[in-house]
Order: sequence, then structure tokens, then C-alpha cells
Amino acid sequence: MGKKSEVAVDFMKKEDLDRVLAIEQASFSMPWSRNLFLAELRNRAVSTSLVSLAGDPAERVVTGYIVFWTVEDEMHILNLATAPAFRRQAVAKGLVHAGLRHAYGRGARRAFLEVRASNAEAQKLYLDLGFTGSFVRRGYYDEPAEDAVVMALAPGAYKALVEQKD
Ligand SMILES: CC(C)(COP(=O)(O)OP(=O)(O)OC[C@H]1O[C@@H](n2cnc3c(N)ncnc32)[C@H](O)[C@@H]1OP(=O)(O)O)[C@@H](O)C(=O)NCCC(=O)NCCS
Repeated sequence: MGKKSEVAVDFMKKEDLDRVLAIEQASFSMPWSRNLFLAELRNRAVSTSLVSLAGDPAERVVTGYIVFWTVEDEMHILNLATAPAFRRQAVAKGLVHAGLRHAYGRGARRAFLEVRASNAEAQKLYLDLGFTGSFVRRGYYDEPAEDAVVMALAPGAYKALVEQKD
């Protein structure tokens, strides 16, 4: 996986979960539980979880991860985070690219995600990749209560991104 990206990307394994959970807890006010990640790993018909790895891939030094669903022609990003020490090194960009390519191979032609209205960093990341903000879901998040911005990658932008040589 991840041939076109400088970031080494692999499928998430159960053995990655301690590191994934540490990143999750450092990244979100309402972190996912181990059971939630395990449920995604088991839900192989629709769910894919990828990790980015630093150094020797055999050592499984997880620097970030993405969890997404592919349902018919839609890819939906459910979770994305980079370990604080590895931020601003194109890890998340590499993970989103790898996820979009994987889902495209499974038939996805459009992509979606929800992001906290105040999360300007993540919105900038997605805007740079070609996503656009489509609408706001009022009161989508708890702790703290906040609206979600729904962002979408249209078929033309998705195809261009997957086909680009980087
Ligand atoms: C948002 C997050 C995933 C970005 O991860 P990252 O690996 O640092 O992102 P990248 O290095 O790939 O950044 C790619 C682009 O996103 C934008 N970006 C990322 N972090 C940014 C920041 N702190 N400020 C401004 N822009 C930012 C920039 O455009 C950046 O490109 P550049 O570095 O060339 O300017 C990371 O900050 C994180 O884990 N945050 C907490 C969890 C979270 O918010 N997840 C997203 C939920 S939708």
C-alpha cells in the first residue's frame, strides 16, 4: 500500500491498537474505545482501517491512522488522526490519499466526512485535497457540543486526485 505516497501505509492490525489508542486519546475530546476500533476491524465488508508507520515497518511504530467505509460508490471517512509528534509532516495527507485510492479500487467515486466546525486544521487539509464544505449538521457533536461541517469530494476531483502522479 501507499506506493504513491512518501508515507508508509499498511492495514491496521489488532497489535497496533495500543499505539492507535494512545494517538486517539491525545487527539479527541471523545476518543473511540478499543471495542469501537475492534468492531471496525471486524466489519471487513464495508470498513477499512489503515495505519501510517515510521522507520522499519516491521516495528509497527504507528504515527497515524484512518478509518473509512466504502459503500457502493461512496467513501465515508469516520476517523483520522496523526500522533502529535508527527504532525505537519504530511502523514494525514498520505493516509487520506491511500484511503481514497483503496476505496476507489472498491468502486467509490465520491467521498464524504464530518468535521467539527472549529477544526480549521482538518478542514484546511481536506480543502487542499479538493474536498468542499457542503452543509452544516447542527449539534452533531457532544463534549463540547458543536456543529459538524459535512465535506465532500466530487467525482471529478476524486478521479483527478487518484490518478495524479505524486
Ligand atoms: C488534522 C490532523 C489529522 C492533520 O494531521 P497532519 O499529519 O499534521 O496533517 P498533514 O501534515 O498531512 O497536513 C496536510 C495539510 O493540512 C493542513 N494542516 C494540517 N495541520 C494544520 C495546522 N495545524 N494548521 C494549519 N493547517 C494545517 C495544511 O494545509 C497541511 O499542509 P502543509 O503542512 O503543507 O501546510 C492532525 O492535526 C490531528 O490528528 N488532529 C487531531 C484529530 C483531528 O482533528 N482529526 C481530524 C478529524 S476530521
